[in-house]
Amino acid sequence: MDHPPIPLSLAAAGPLTGIVTVPGDKSISHRSLMLGALAVGETVITGLLEGEDVLATAAAMTAMGASIQKKDQTWHVHGVGVGGLLQPQTALDMGNSGTSTRLLMGLVASHPITATFIGDASLSRRPMGRVIDPLSLMGASFTASPGGRLPLTMQGLCPAVPLRYTLPVASAQVKSAVLLAGLNTPGRTVVIEPVATRDHSERMLAGFGATLTVEPSPEGRIITLHGEPELRPQIITVPGDPSSAAFPLVAALIVPGSDVTIANVGMNPTRAGLVTILQAMGADISVMHPRTVGGEPVADLVVRHGALTGIEVPPDIAPSMIDEFPILFVAAAFAQGTTIMTGLDELRVKESDRIAVMAAGLAACGVTLKELPDGLAITGTGGDPLPGGATVDAHLDHRIAMSFAILGLNARAPVTIDDARPIATSFPTFVAMMESLGATRRK
Ligand code: S3P
Repeated sequence: MDHPPIPLSLAAAGPLTGIVTVPGDKSISHRSLMLGALAVGETVITGLLEGEDVLATAAAMTAMGASIQKKDQTWHVHGVGVGGLLQPQTALDMGNSGTSTRLLMGLVASHPITATFIGDASLSRRPMGRVIDPLSLMGASFTASPGGRLPLTMQGLCPAVPLRYTLPVASAQVKSAVLLAGLNTPGRTVVIEPVATRDHSERMLAGFGATLTVEPSPEGRIITLHGEPELRPQIITVPGDPSSAAFPLVAALIVPGSDVTIANVGMNPTRAGLVTILQAMGADISVMHPRTVGGEPVADLVVRHGALTGIEVPPDIAPSMIDEFPILFVAAAFAQGTTIMTGLDELRVKESDRIAVMAAGLAACGVTLKELPDGLAITGTGGDPLPGGATVDAHLDHRIAMSFAILGLNARAPVTIDDARPIATSFPTFVAMMESLGATRRK
């Protein structure tokens, strides 16, 4: 990063109250730009997340020939057509964004393109073998840094070889990389998903006019994409990101007297696990005005402070809330009793090792916990404030930074995040939104 670290500490002098919206869904924003860039004609996007991760995708698609512009409050994408991506002239800088990297590797894999992917220190530690493996089977070749990491250079193959692939990890990024590679591949590309993950790629590919079927089977969901479609441009309204809504949601649950409405939150069942789990812990959350916007379920969430009770979180719900565990750990730290969360091996390879980094930060703030190989067991205060009084290392991880900023709202002594800059990757308006609910920055 170009600038020195910016520490952050939030406080709440009283209840949090108000109605807020959160920025557009990150997963849908990435896919809107990518599919818009492959459609023939103009795709218009409202509510795009203007975070650094999504802007990295926009820059990469522009470098490969698409035209992407913001006019007033909408984004306009002029696509090159399936198979029309051009050779980028410089390395593609993915910043902090695993989604940009893995999905774009899928796109490059079936084009006659050589591309180099670079990223920040966090992204350069993350495993890319999970996409290198299937994309190699389709014919792409790779020169990666040790351990299958960035920086890496890949060469796509055109025409690529269609693949039938069973996902070895529950990952929407791997699924999407293979499906996106399958767009410019003759024949049928099939992904079998033993454990369902977020289905935005399937919904949006179908919405853009690709022929795609999803069938249940004893092996899992079988997703079949017919290659070489002509994608039709779309008008897209991006719903609010449930992974961002999670922060004001838990803030309202843990700050006494709070009453907050978060409007226009995406409630796709493959993303909505956090609300289910918090309700099982006794949280007062009402899902109001359920509706469908642009093919995605959306609702307004009304959340009021109240007592939480520790539970054992069923591991099979993890994929539908995989990005929400850091903030669930914070909620658990204020619950009565112990919350046991397992089956979370994937958290160790996110923007940071979210189990180890959260365990260290929570312990420093006075939380009673046990780190497990694949999760955490957290014993909460029953709603009382935590001791706090720590400076937490966020390890370039936006969700760690925001989680500890929220924890500090109910701590006796300030909780400081060493560096809040990564928050801009997914939620540039986070601090302003929390201030609008009554939180304040500690000096
Ligand atoms: C994403 C999938 C998830 C999630 C990430 C976004 C996507 O990653 O953690 O924030 O947009 O497909 P995995 O596929 O690694 O589980």
